[in-house]
Amino acid sequence: MYIQFRRQPMKNTQDFIQANHDRFLAELLEFLSLPSISADPAYADSVRQTAEWVAESLRKVGADHVRLEETAGFPIVYGEKMIDPAAPTVLVYGHYDVQPADPLHLWDNPPFEPIIKDGKIFARGACDDKGQVFMHIKAFEAMHASGELTCNVKFMIEGEEEVGSDNLGLFVSSNRALLAADVILISDTAIIANDTPSIDVGLRGLSYMEVSVQGPNRDLHSGVYGGAVANPINILCQMIASLHDEFNRITIPGFYDEVLDLSAADRAAMGQTPFDLDAYQKDLGIQTVYGEKGYSSIERASIRPTLDVNGIWGGYTGEGAKTVLPSMAHAKISMRLVPNQRSEEITQLFTKHFLSIAPKGVKVTVKAHHGGEAYLMPTDSIAFQAASDALATTFGKEPVPTRGGGSIPIVALFEKELGMKSILMGFGLDTDAIHSPNEHYGLFNFYKGIETIPHFFANLAKLSN
Ligand code: BES
Ligand code: MN
Ligand code: MN
Repeated sequence: MYIQFRRQPMKNTQDFIQANHDRFLAELLEFLSLPSISADPAYADSVRQTAEWVAESLRKVGADHVRLEETAGFPIVYGEKMIDPAAPTVLVYGHYDVQPADPLHLWDNPPFEPIIKDGKIFARGACDDKGQVFMHIKAFEAMHASGELTCNVKFMIEGEEEVGSDNLGLFVSSNRALLAADVILISDTAIIANDTPSIDVGLRGLSYMEVSVQGPNRDLHSGVYGGAVANPINILCQMIASLHDEFNRITIPGFYDEVLDLSAADRAAMGQTPFDLDAYQKDLGIQTVYGEKGYSSIERASIRPTLDVNGIWGGYTGEGAKTVLPSMAHAKISMRLVPNQRSEEITQLFTKHFLSIAPKGVKVTVKAHHGGEAYLMPTDSIAFQAASDALATTFGKEPVPTRGGGSIPIVALFEKELGMKSILMGFGLDTDAIHSPNEHYGLFNFYKGIETIPHFFANLAKLSN
């Protein structure tokens, strides 16, 4: 086997993948048909059933000690294969929960009735993150069945990522020995394009807020009272508008104080990242891009912090017109953070500032939802080399290091609690419409992931020797 490995790494594994090509896809479609929406209590039973399904799929392919680890929320699926104490151990993390599918009427096909169209799998969770989690289960199956598994593997697949991973932190800190590994491997991010592999070397942090403005004690006739009483929606809009200046910089005092600026060399390197502005605008149906003055689109969406309103409501939003001066207005506001901003501190700065700009005549309240820290990954590790080489092998091109704009708060926590680094070897595309209607995942990406993961394992074992 050693000789064969030298000649053609993972040959049996790759043959196994070829031979089981169609079955892998059929199984994924079954996974995608389970509506594991963690945010909506109406789906609680489905989320749990999905956890069972993942556990069963691990058992079927030979993982040991597979179980549901109960939490105060949804269970964490754990399973492992320990082949040799001297071999490196990879902890595979992912999530089986998905975002709500709303707005439903914008889907061309029901979100939990997966279909294949134009070489893509359409379903909620196809890319984020069921499709990518399943690549790991199938890659493991292939390596194990072929006798070519070179590392110990532990799986930790959670069901609360899309709602802030509140209970995973406690599980991690009370199970340090169980989760001990050399590296955490995560496929929950994207590559630049199918002909341009990349590895995210950073993630943004998050502070998620909800604000309310209370005016009069009841809804009023907007003719009888309008003009003489503060309108909470008008006020909220003014307050929100004032959070950016004319350069699209955030006006909260102290907001940028801790931001880690990139060196000129790092920015120049980032400027070399392939980016097709025209295709970007066309895909989104926009005339031009927008954002903080002095930064490129790639920088704005990765190394710079942001503040965005996610939803705003109040007053009358039903059919037709109703003349009303509302009693209340609300908004959900998220801030994406970069190294070395701290989520808790930014939450405090936001709260203090937002309360301070409230005009007389209204009462403003601010509530913090979940948050999480940004992450920067070192690129001089054996694990990064293993991932980089794996992508180079299967794409025939060296991957580009990129900074991701999204957040996986648990990654910073893994480092803090377990002292372990994560490798973000994702295979999605930014255009996969994650969290949106018609989410999809390319068949190319699904199979490329299954093909690449065994190379990561082989490389890691080789480089660890
Ligand atoms: N997989 C995404 C995060 C992501 C997407 C990172 C694309 C990099 C590129 C993850 O499932 C997600 O959606 N995270 C949330 C944060 C969470 C606290 C709700 C996010 O980024 O909004
Ligand atoms: Mn995800
Ligand atoms: Mn997500």
